[in-house]
Amino acid sequence: MHKSLLMMAAALAEGLRVSRRVAVVGGGSAGVAAARFLKQAGHKPNVFETGASFGGVWAERPTNNVVYKNLRTNLPKQVMQSPDLDFPSSLPSYVDGRALGAYISTYAEKFGVEATFGARVLEVTPLADDRWQVKYETQQGCVEDDYDAVVVCNGHYEAPYIPEIPGQDEWLNGDRSIIHSLHYNVPEPYEGKSVLIVGGRSSGVDISRELQNVADWTYIIEKKCSDLVSDSQKRVTHVPVGAALNADGHLYVDSTKAPGPPVDSVILATGYVYAFPFLQEDEVGMEFEGRRSCRPLYLHLQHAERPTLGFVGIQLAVPCPIPTFEAQSRYLGEAWATSEGALTPLGERQSWVAQRLSTIEASGREQDLHYTTAEGSSAWAYIRELVDAAPSPPKTSWLDSDDFDARLSTVESIYRDRGARYPTKPWHDDAYRRCEYSVDWERGTWDVAC
Ligand SMILES: Cc1cc2nc3c(=O)[nH]c(=O)nc-3n(C[C@H](O)[C@H](O)[C@H](O)COP(=O)(O)OP(=O)(O)OC[C@H]3O[C@@H](n4cnc5c(N)ncnc54)[C@H](O)[C@@H]3O)c2cc1C
Ligand SMILES: NC(=O)c1ccc[n+]([C@@H]2O[C@H](COP(=O)([O-])OP(=O)(O)OC[C@H]3O[C@@H](n4cnc5c(N)ncnc54)[C@H](OP(=O)(O)O)[C@@H]3O)[C@@H](O)[C@H]2O)c1
Repeated sequence: MHKSLLMMAAALAEGLRVSRRVAVVGGGSAGVAAARFLKQAGHKPNVFETGASFGGVWAERPTNNVVYKNLRTNLPKQVMQSPDLDFPSSLPSYVDGRALGAYISTYAEKFGVEATFGARVLEVTPLADDRWQVKYETQQGCVEDDYDAVVVCNGHYEAPYIPEIPGQDEWLNGDRSIIHSLHYNVPEPYEGKSVLIVGGRSSGVDISRELQNVADWTYIIEKKCSDLVSDSQKRVTHVPVGAALNADGHLYVDSTKAPGPPVDSVILATGYVYAFPFLQEDEVGMEFEGRRSCRPLYLHLQHAERPTLGFVGIQLAVPCPIPTFEAQSRYLGEAWATSEGALTPLGERQSWVAQRLSTIEASGREQDLHYTTAEGSSAWAYIRELVDAAPSPPKTSWLDSDDFDARLSTVESIYRDRGARYPTKPWHDDAYRRCEYSVDWERGTWDVAC
């Protein structure tokens, strides 16, 4: 009797759920996760993808070339994958870009995600009642269509962040050149040259390593470096931020010349700014143009004032992108299943954003807005917070399973092990990529062989 009452209540709640027609902009890993979880929540997603297949930056023919030729992932597959779909066991822990592209296509197939390929979204315009007009272009021409909600999954590796290096104009003459890591592909063009890399996160670290034994000398300007340090055997100089280029070709920290030959080329591994060419800032009430933050995004995923505009994959550095995108997508699916299209009241959403912005404004580092996650907590807590905040009827994903928490903890402990093995200097060997993890997910135990 009790059970049948519960079932009736569940059926009633199910009957009250709202089903929305949703445009998903982009068919990379964020777009496929969004479509999967929107479908699961009872919505009707339409994925628009400019390229010819799923995969985003990892697709066989991507729409941008940010993934350089010899890239291997810097996360083991056991951390990158969705707990609902393993990478093939025949692959090593650290896979190449092609394997990640194939994984995303298999994911789309497994969860019945379809897309309109060769379709570029040109304009997303707000309509009355929180609805949206979406204009997209295919080879057949332009189409306009109305949607109840839009989720933006267009990635953020299209528009480089280009800071000015002091003295670069005096330095830049003749054969000297500056490029951004977006356009770096292979080390060979730098053979015998002296190269300055600016930025010491993933791109800076990978490129410095690739240039070892190819370039004549490498300089790396990095925020973690406090003093000029040179290793003449490795032919590398670590340089603090604030160093200036000079017309004589050399780098100077105040009046001290950095040891090494004159700089021939600069590679800016300085990251990206957000770009949503199909959204007009004034029209949608957002700020993102040319910035390393976008606002006002509640929980990094929902326009605080226009809740039917969602974003998946906004964070800049996430330890496990696909599981994070899944948790964000599940949250949006549940939020949009309510008649309000949101799980929290407007005032709460606005104050969440205001509080985060005040922290960022105090530090003067807008780029941290989407690095730290939910208030003061880690990326792992963020996933848990999203799952807790969006109670859903029992479904089939790992996020709703009994072992969700244990599973996430296992992923976190593998990630921490990988972090402990990460090189302490950008030019150091990437021995961590030769480690192989074997995991017993049921027991939550793992081994690593390096
Ligand atoms: C060099 C590099 C290395 C990385 N290495 C790792 C790694 O080792 N492990 C890891 O997990 N992550 C890594 N990442 C992060 C990685 O990008 C994310 O994991 C993930 O691929 C991001 O997926 P996304 O769907 O958000 O964006 P993307 O992969 O960029 O996909 C966006 C898609 O949207 C489409 N699109 C854009 N605009 C439109 C439009 N107007 N209309 C229609 N379609 C549009 C694009 O064609 C593209 O297919 C790396 C990133 C970079 C740049
Ligand atoms: N093999 C791989 O798997 C791989 C390889 C490359 C990239 N990636 C991924 O690709 C994404 C982008 O990585 P990314 O390294 O290109 O960009 P990023 O993570 O945004 O890092 C850029 C770095 O440049 C610094 N920087 C900016 N301006 C600077 C200046 N004027 N002087 C010195 N440093 C400056 C930034 O510091 P502030 O933030 O303090 O300004 C930041 O540390 C990440 O998700 C990353 O994980 C992965």
